[in-house]
Amino acid sequence: MSLRHFLSLNDLTSDELRGLIDRAIELKAMRRERRLYEPLKNRTLAMIFTKSSTRTRVSFEAGMAQLGGHALYLEPGSMQLGRGEPIEDTARVVSRMVDGVMIRTAGHDFVEKFAEYSKVPVINALTDKFHPCQLLADIQTWQERRGSIQGRTVAWIGDGNNVCHSWMNAARLFDFTLNIATPKGYEPDPDVVDLNRQHIMLSHDPKAAAVDADIVVTDTWASMGQEDEKAERQQAFAGFIVDDGLMSLADKDAMFMHCLPAYRGSEVAASVIDGRQSVVWEEGENRLHAQKALLEFLIK
Ligand code: CP
Ligand code: NVA
Repeated sequence: MSLRHFLSLNDLTSDELRGLIDRAIELKAMRRERRLYEPLKNRTLAMIFTKSSTRTRVSFEAGMAQLGGHALYLEPGSMQLGRGEPIEDTARVVSRMVDGVMIRTAGHDFVEKFAEYSKVPVINALTDKFHPCQLLADIQTWQERRGSIQGRTVAWIGDGNNVCHSWMNAARLFDFTLNIATPKGYEPDPDVVDLNRQHIMLSHDPKAAAVDADIVVTDTWASMGQEDEKAERQQAFAGFIVDDGLMSLADKDAMFMHCLPAYRGSEVAASVIDGRQSVVWEEGENRLHAQKALLEFLIK
């Protein structure tokens, strides 16, 4: 297979994405049966993090170990990158030594440039623009309980951020409808809106967005890097909390999703995230299985 990257969901076809979800479900079953499966023996994944992480780091590192390989945790502070070595040079050198590179950073242009100069697959583990790995886990979570997501309705309540952008791409690639409700001034980026226009509805009304939804999903009101805007955002997002009232407008069996970390009492009520409709712990676990399927697809 020629060199492939995963910088956004758009790097894979719908068929490839569906195949990955099916494979993630198989890998999950294999792990439950404690079956040894080490297709990435002697392979190494470099993981570059310029932002915090719990789920992403643990899932990629554990996933590589389970597949027989090794993961290397790198922080720019301890790399020459942090002292001004160009991304291009870092990419050329690191990619001659490892079999894949995973990057979490602010600028999407950073991962694009790294990929341009890399000899091995590059995976976007969150930028300010997209969080595609999260969506693999989220679609897996729906599919293993309810089957195909095609034709379903998802309500995104909150910020038009990186995770929202990836849900928008997912709506087109997996063929479902995404009702997006954001406060004014916090809409998703116009280029992502244009690409996915046929599959999304934009509004500023959380109640209208939630009506009959099969999934209600939200995320923090202040993403990493927006800590200074926290107070201002708390005000702007008043009325956008996913609480029992909002959930009651959705389908009675609707799932509540959140990529985590969550802030109870801000974007979601404790009674919702800790309640019967919440699938957030499965979503978190599925990061492991979905990314193992991705690593197998890109590196094996
Ligand atoms: N959802 C997610 O990416 O979590 P972390 O920030 O903990 O990696
Ligand atoms: N939108 C959040 C997602 C965290 C996983 C952020 O970028 O901080």
